[in-house]
Amino acid sequence: MTYNIVHHEYDVVVVGAGGAGLRATVGLSQAGLRTANLTKVFPTRSHTVAAQGGISAALANMGEDDWRWHMYDTIKGSDWLGDQDAIQYMCREAIPAIIELEHWGVPFSRTPEGKIYQRPFGGMTTNYGEGTAQRTCAAADRTGHAMLHSLYQQSLKNKAEFFIEYFALDLLTDADGSVHGVLAWDLATGSLHRFRAKQVILATGGYGRAYFSATSAHTCTGDGNAMAQRAGIPLQDMEFVQFHPTGIYGSGCLITEGARGEGGYLTNSKGERFMERYAPNRKDLASRDVVSRSMTIEIREGRGVGAESDHIHLHLEHLGPDVLHKRLPGISETAKIFANVDVTKEPIPVLPTVHYNMGGIPTNFYGEVVTSHDGQTDTIIPGLMAVGEAACVSVHGANRLGSNSLLDLVVFGRAAALHAATIVKPGAKHGKISPASEEQAIARFDKLRHSNSGTRGTAEIRLEMQKTMQSHAAVFRTSTSLTEGVAKMKKTIESFADVKVSDSSLVWNSDLMETLELDNLLGQALVTVASAENRHESRGAHAHEDFPDRSDSEWTKHTLAWRPEATSVAFGYRPVHMTVLDDEAKVIPPQKRTY
Ligand code: FUM
Repeated sequence: MTYNIVHHEYDVVVVGAGGAGLRATVGLSQAGLRTANLTKVFPTRSHTVAAQGGISAALANMGEDDWRWHMYDTIKGSDWLGDQDAIQYMCREAIPAIIELEHWGVPFSRTPEGKIYQRPFGGMTTNYGEGTAQRTCAAADRTGHAMLHSLYQQSLKNKAEFFIEYFALDLLTDADGSVHGVLAWDLATGSLHRFRAKQVILATGGYGRAYFSATSAHTCTGDGNAMAQRAGIPLQDMEFVQFHPTGIYGSGCLITEGARGEGGYLTNSKGERFMERYAPNRKDLASRDVVSRSMTIEIREGRGVGAESDHIHLHLEHLGPDVLHKRLPGISETAKIFANVDVTKEPIPVLPTVHYNMGGIPTNFYGEVVTSHDGQTDTIIPGLMAVGEAACVSVHGANRLGSNSLLDLVVFGRAAALHAATIVKPGAKHGKISPASEEQAIARFDKLRHSNSGTRGTAEIRLEMQKTMQSHAAVFRTSTSLTEGVAKMKKTIESFADVKVSDSSLVWNSDLMETLELDNLLGQALVTVASAENRHESRGAHAHEDFPDRSDSEWTKHTLAWRPEATSVAFGYRPVHMTVLDDEAKVIPPQKRTY
C-alpha cells in the first residue's frame, strides 16, 4: 500500500516528553535549535508524572552532605557496574540541576527556614557509608508530577514544537546506519509523518510492561529501545531489572520508598522487623535489590502475611496523621483506593514489583549512542542520542538507588542538549535517508495493520509474554528458570507472526497501537531473559541462585545484546569505566556490598 507521507524538517527531534525528553527539549530550544518533540501521550501524562519520592542532590539542607558521598553511594548501589566517570558527572551536576528546577518553578516542599525539604532514601549515606543522608528533594510525594509540569511550561516558553499523540515507528537511517530522522504515525488523523533531523534523541522511557506486575504505566513499552534494536543497535545490561520493594499487593501501584524514608517499616507474619537481620545498619533503607530479596526470602520461608502468606506489611500508622497528610498525601489516597487501607490505622500489603530498567540504549555521558565491536573501544552512532530510562549511560549499573532516576533525567537531558548544540549547525543540510530504511519501516507498519486474519489476539500474546517474564526473570533466577524462559519467549515471538489485528483503520486504532507496542516489547523481553541467562554471577538486581557471588574478574563488564533475527540474540561486551573525570573525586574500587 502507498502512503502519502507528510514531510517535516527540524534540527533536532526528541521522541518522548517525560522528564528527560522535556529537559532535553528545553535546552535545545534555548540553544536556538529548531526542535520537535514527538510524544505518544500528552506531555504531562508521561510516566515521570508517577514518580513520587523525590530527586537526589547533596544540597545539605537537612544536615551535612557532599556530592562525593552521593557518588560513593551510587557506585556501591550499582554493585560496581556503573561507569564511575558518568556517576561523578551526575552527582556533581545534581546540585545546579535542582537549583535550576527550583528557579523554573518546581514547587518543592520546604523546611521551616524555607529551604528545599530533603528526606532519607535507600542506600543514601553520609561520610562514605557511615550515617544516613537526607538527600532526596521532595514535592510531598508527587515530585515527578511537579517536575513534569514545570518542564513542559519551560518547553512552551522556549517555543519548542510538540507533536502530541504521535507514535514513533522507526528510525530513518542511511545505508551506513547513521540516523537522519524518524517515521511517526499521527493517531488522531491516521497520517504518516517523516521527521528529518540532524540529531534524533530517544527519550521513550522503560519497558516495565514486558512484565505482568509493574509500577510502570501501560504506556511503558520501551518504544525507543525497540527502534534502536531494529536499527541494529545493541541494548546494554538488560538483565538488570529493578523490583521496587513496595508495590501494592494485587494492583502493583507504587508506594514510595519515601514512606520508609519518613520512618515506615516492613514486618512479616510474626510481626518481626525482618530487615534488621538482612541489613543491620541501613535496615528498611537498604538498597532496593537487597530489600526486595529479603522480602522474597521471608515469603518463601513461610513468613509472608495474608491468607496465602504471599506478601509483606508496610507500617505507616505510627507516623501520625499530620506527617502522612503533609509528606505522603498521594500514597495515603492510593492505599485507600487500591488496598482499601486507612494508612493511619493499618499496614499496607506490599510485594516487590517491577519498577525500573537499569539497561537500555548504550550511551556516553553526552547522551551519544555508542556501541563496541571489539569490547574495548566505543563507536558513536552518528545522529542518535538517548536519555532517561531508555538510555544506559551507565550511572545505575546493576541496581539504581531510589531518587537517582529523576536526577538522571534532568542531568543527562541537559547534557544531551548542551552537546547537541555543539554538533548541530542550524543552517546545515540534512543527511540523506536511504529509501530502503523508509520502505522497511512502512512495510512493518503496513503488515501489522493488515494482520486481520491471524488467530492470536494481541492481549493473549502479551499476557503470555508478561507471565513468562514474571516467573522466569524474577527477583531470583536460576539457570533452569532462565533457559526455560528463553525457550518460551522464542515460542511466543514465533506466534506473533499469527497475531490478529481486528481493525485496519488508521485513525485512533488502539488495537494496532497496542500491537505495535507489543512488537516493541517482545524484542526487549527476549534480550532481557537471554542476557540474564548469559550472565553467570549475581550482581545488584541480577540474583542468580546457581552463581550466588559477584565475579569481579569475569563479569565487571557491560553486556551488549543484539537481536540479529526475531528469535536470536548475539552478545558482546563493553568495559566498565573505572575512571573519574578529574582529581575532584577518586575511583572507588570494588568492595563487598553490605548495608
Ligand atoms: O519510591 C519512589 O518514590 C520511587 C523513586 C524512584 O524510583 O526513584
